[in-house]
Amino acid sequence: MALSTLKIWALLNAIASVSLAVPLSTTKAECDRTALTEAADAYIAAQIAGKVEPLKNILGDAWKYQQNNKELEAEKGVLSKALKIDHRRTNYDMTDCATYTEYISADSANPYVIGVQIRHGEDKKVNMIDVIASTTNSWLFDAKKTLQYVQQEKWDPIPKEKQDKREVIKAVGDAYMDMWSNATAHETIPWGTPCTRLEGSAYTGKGKPDDSCKPGIPSNHNQAPNTHRRYVIDESMGSVSIFCVWEHMMMAADSHEFRLEGGKLRYVHTMTECGGKQCKL
Ligand SMILES: *[C@@H]1O[C@H](CO)[C@@H](O)[C@H](O)[C@H]1NC(C)=O
Repeated sequence: MALSTLKIWALLNAIASVSLAVPLSTTKAECDRTALTEAADAYIAAQIAGKVEPLKNILGDAWKYQQNNKELEAEKGVLSKALKIDHRRTNYDMTDCATYTEYISADSANPYVIGVQIRHGEDKKVNMIDVIASTTNSWLFDAKKTLQYVQQEKWDPIPKEKQDKREVIKAVGDAYMDMWSNATAHETIPWGTPCTRLEGSAYTGKGKPDDSCKPGIPSNHNQAPNTHRRYVIDESMGSVSIFCVWEHMMMAADSHEFRLEGGKLRYVHTMTECGGKQCKL
């Protein structure tokens, strides 16, 4: 009697552990690359159409739209403008189920350089569209020039065996963002050679093998810490996109994207929008 009770108990236990194990392994779902691609593509289709309609199938119930660090109805944002898109690059965060897309409309009637982070929930649907949209009056803005520089850079996928770890990529991005408030942060950045910065439309690169990203880094380390950082990290691109509040320039909405190659900083791209006003230091 005691034995069979024990057997039943063991059996129940086995069933319990099986039924526990199954949902655990399925709810901790892997990010679905197809869903990430579909959402990024739908977003771009919406931007080309100037309508939110193409997003309908990929949005979750409680999705949010944010533009230049402010929550907004998507219909009232930049998505309501039909833009001709001259450049687009989408990076994938397969740990946080998110994408970062950089895109440019160099059309002089409607110039934009935009970064968008799109985040997915466990149902794979989109729960956040977070946009930094730079245009006329944004920091060093000139979409045509930015396009020209972006197109001459090489952002090839990095072979698996040469990829840096996400913690490493993130730490470099954070150290860079910390330079405004921390006098020693720059010492921890693995500066590459060459390395080029594209800030708005200002390019530090001369196309030389010894191009450096160090000239012009902050010398005043008593500034604000660039808070509210949001990340999209793609090991296959060596990249991290960081959106934040750029307090020391008019509380601007800011996007910094970094690319590492072989553990060294290779590219920096920035977009900085000052609440519709002319950005000034
Ligand atoms: C400043 O940066 C250094 C080097 O990265 C780090 O060790 C230190 O903790 C930072 N200080 C603060 C106050 O964050």
